[in-house]
Amino acid sequence: MAQQSGRDIAPATGKLGVMLVGLGAVSTTFIAGVENVRRGTGLPIGSLSQMGTIRLGKRTEKRSPKIKEFVSLAELHDLVFTAWDPIPDDAYAAAVKAGVLDRHEHLDPIKDFLQGIKPLPAAFDQHYVKRLHGTNVKTGKTKRDLAEQLRQDVRDFKRRSGADRLVMIWAASTEVFLTTGPAHQSLAAFERAMEQNDQAIAPSMLYAYAALMESVPFANGAPNLTVDIPALQRLAEERKLPIGGKDFKTGQTMMKTVLAPAFKARMLGLAGWYSTNILGNRDGEVLDDPESFKTKEESKLGVLEYILQPDQYPELYGNVFHKVRINYYPPRGDNKEGWDNIDIFGWLGYPMQIKVDFLCRDSILAAPIVLDLALFFDLAQRARLSGIQEWLSFYFKSPQTAPGLYPEHDLFIQQTKLKNTLRWLMGEEQITHLGIEYYEKA
Ligand SMILES: NC(=O)c1ccc[n+]([C@@H]2O[C@H](COP(=O)([O-])OP(=O)(O)OC[C@H]3O[C@@H](n4cnc5c(N)ncnc54)[C@H](O)[C@@H]3O)[C@@H](O)[C@H]2O)c1
Repeated sequence: MAQQSGRDIAPATGKLGVMLVGLGAVSTTFIAGVENVRRGTGLPIGSLSQMGTIRLGKRTEKRSPKIKEFVSLAELHDLVFTAWDPIPDDAYAAAVKAGVLDRHEHLDPIKDFLQGIKPLPAAFDQHYVKRLHGTNVKTGKTKRDLAEQLRQDVRDFKRRSGADRLVMIWAASTEVFLTTGPAHQSLAAFERAMEQNDQAIAPSMLYAYAALMESVPFANGAPNLTVDIPALQRLAEERKLPIGGKDFKTGQTMMKTVLAPAFKARMLGLAGWYSTNILGNRDGEVLDDPESFKTKEESKLGVLEYILQPDQYPELYGNVFHKVRINYYPPRGDNKEGWDNIDIFGWLGYPMQIKVDFLCRDSILAAPIVLDLALFFDLAQRARLSGIQEWLSFYFKSPQTAPGLYPEHDLFIQQTKLKNTLRWLMGEEQITHLGIEYYEKA
């Protein structure tokens, strides 16, 4: 039973252009995956927007449509793609190099399609990603020139592809660690800093700026600062555009944000959590540089602090030893191994241990997240939701929030928030899980 009228949402007519920054393992696995799904040679497993359902009304109403039938989302057949990358490989060559998808089963049959996606020259600077040597790069006197070239790319792609709407997603390498400074405080300071080639302006910020100036929503899949700065947040609000990040929540951190809330729910203590990874893809190589690793480390370390609230539970979580390591180990390629050793304690302080050994495939977990973000950011735009999209925290390791709010990391709270936002958009009742009406009928 509809409770309220919901939000006016513009229809998802025409094509949706997905502009990917970076054409590496994640982007090619995403694009090739979408094309395989469109041709009926695979299922979009891991994608909430494609596989998920949403319960509406009371449990007795038995209404659980698929999410994609409940809200208007772009159809997979309406997606068109482009990407930027400093490495000139087309999407086929890049996917073969990434070695994630089986060449014979999932790449060769769509070779022509993938070869048609050639990376645009990137706004790239090795200062921010030390381990890469790009040749397919833009040149310009100032960072502002580069941003203007990116804006032109956006306009050209829109015209060339016939896309009705666009979204931009950063799926490029993790940049070196930066913190918010004076250049990030206002649009005027940001634009001046671009003109002065200030080091505080990373390439990822140029893409985010170009997207917002061209009225394109922007999502950040890496832990870089990028759009998490006041100047760009305000720009997004002023121009009524959705933004969000940071860092796709895929393997180890996804598990952490499932397990830690369980310990806290049962008031079990935590003495230490040691997380280590071996990873052999290009991402692993980039993260082998201490400055890029620092950006990733901050993102991975943050989650426990917020979930466990040591200030409120000093006896349980006041003295947690939390360590995260990423080790570049080429033989494994994209097939990461993430080990967690968790030391917990229970009744009267007796210690126990949990070991998690997750033999995951990084890009297989990330690709459906890219798809959902593209579709939900487009939905947000059509529903006139602007600024930070906290309801999409579900997809991020370090969710951006409004100033003064702490981020919510618990995966199931994030899921509830996402689904309740969809219900709210469509004028359906919020689900509180109270359910007293099933027992107190009078
Ligand atoms: N796979 C996962 O599970 C996962 C999870 C969270 C975050 N991420 C992040 O997603 C990003 C992509 O991961 P990946 O495995 O595809 O890495 P990748 O190294 O295979 O691809 C990244 C691509 O970005 C390109 N690039 C670097 N700087 C660029 C720039 N300025 N402009 C355009 N392109 C640029 C690189 O040349 C490379 O081809 C990384 O930052 C990674 O940390 C991945």
